[in-house]
Amino acid sequence: VAFFEQNSSGALVSRLTNDSDQMQNVLNRAPETLVTNLLRCVIYLVMMAQAHPQLTFVSVLPLPFAFWLARKTGKVVGRFGVMQNDALARVNAVASEALANAKAVQLAGAEATEVKEYSTAIGRYLDVIKQTLFKETSLRFVSSLVNDACTDVPLMLLACWLIARGELSVGQFYTYRTLLLTYRRGFRELAELFTGVSRAKAVSQRYFELTDREPLVRSQSNAKHLEASSVRVEVELRGVSFRYPGQDVWALKDVSIRARPGEVVALVGSSGAGKSTVLRLLARLADPDEGTVLLSGVDLREIDLGDLRRCLAVVDQDPALFDRTVRENIAYGLPETSEGEVGSDERIRRAAKASRAADFVEALPAGYEERLGERGSRLSGGQRQRLAIARAMARDAPLVLMDEPTSALDGESEEAVAESISALAAQGRTVVVAAHRLGTVARADRLLVLEGGMIVEEGTRKELLARPESRYRAVVEPSLSSD
Ligand SMILES: Nc1ncnc2c1ncn2[C@@H]1O[C@H](COP(=O)(O)OP(=O)(O)O)[C@@H](O)[C@H]1O
Ligand SMILES: [Mg+2]
Repeated sequence: VAFFEQNSSGALVSRLTNDSDQMQNVLNRAPETLVTNLLRCVIYLVMMAQAHPQLTFVSVLPLPFAFWLARKTGKVVGRFGVMQNDALARVNAVASEALANAKAVQLAGAEATEVKEYSTAIGRYLDVIKQTLFKETSLRFVSSLVNDACTDVPLMLLACWLIARGELSVGQFYTYRTLLLTYRRGFRELAELFTGVSRAKAVSQRYFELTDREPLVRSQSNAKHLEASSVRVEVELRGVSFRYPGQDVWALKDVSIRARPGEVVALVGSSGAGKSTVLRLLARLADPDEGTVLLSGVDLREIDLGDLRRCLAVVDQDPALFDRTVRENIAYGLPETSEGEVGSDERIRRAAKASRAADFVEALPAGYEERLGERGSRLSGGQRQRLAIARAMARDAPLVLMDEPTSALDGESEEAVAESISALAAQGRTVVVAAHRLGTVARADRLLVLEGGMIVEEGTRKELLARPESRYRAVVEPSLSSD
């Protein structure tokens, strides 16, 4: 996740497709070119040697130098290839970001800015191409010039001397030259191939950097498996400190939290306090720098990642919906049933009911088969939130993590969602929710007040409100939205 937050998706896609295209281009042609030209070189070399050994000796003398030159050119060309692809990746990143945020761009009236940004990126790309093209061409030109000079000058001198002494006829020399030219063409194509391969190699290193990346968070080889039947789990943060990669400030500092089965724990605090970060660590999207995160007493790092994610249901602040049907969106991530369907109809309908999504879904023209539009753009914020909750409910996971949105829900659906959170806990699930709503906070069994990455207060809402010095009473509750 950290990697994807630091690299734009557009640039990554561009690097993956572009780099692999170039590798493919060269590799497709490589064997054929290699074999034909190698054969050509060898055959003509033998014929040349038969026609005139002395001349042939002079012709092949600079061969090591020619190899060295091809290597050098190959390296430089490879470097340019990487530069060009990076510039192109930037172009694609700008374009895909602008398209993904098309609405925001329009509303801000920032089309011109985006066009300018895009033109700048293209301009830079063209600059790189111009630069590299110029350097590459001149390099190739010079190297072939030097190469030819090294071969031709001694050859001509020798030939003239031999002809003058009457040891070689002009006709013989012409025959020899014809052979030499064909041989050289073969050699040049081999050198050309070599540069191409060097370029592909340089580019492919970048490609494999991407495809072979080891995730920061991964299962250990001896990871523990969770019992499939574990329906009740307890989660705990024990003395956890966490810093985002590349940041100096601690996002969480010595945080200890515990949530038991059947309990709703609400994380409250101002924006930037660290609520989402706690959820992120509980879902093991990152590992803590200090301390441990435990699931039923076992360090998350020792648990098989697949098992862990299966026992999790996460409702994110910005629900990730796909341009597929309502049904597919709710069933997303569920195992296939025996009929090959992802999730049974009954399970999906039950989840939709519990999350109060059923009413609006059934009112859609195609009901559960209605497609949502890209990222669920055809739904209101509250509807998207309810679908995300339905997805979490359909998972039947023992641990539910929610990052509650502040604005997406209207009063009525907020009440419904708060109710369904309580219902989840009543079934023995453990619920940790970053709460922005009074309705949710009021129903939570316990509140944890975060400030600047630290827990400053803990207790039931009643207890906190009763304390005279309460930060919760003074700062947090007045800021909760309650409509
Ligand atoms: N991806 C990230 N990279 C760097 N810093 C981050 C990232 N996400 C959050 N932070 C920082 O971590 C701190 C806690 O953020 P967060 O947990 O999102 O707060 P909350 O959810 O309570 O609003 C903030 O100071 C925020 O700027
Ligand atoms: Mg947050």
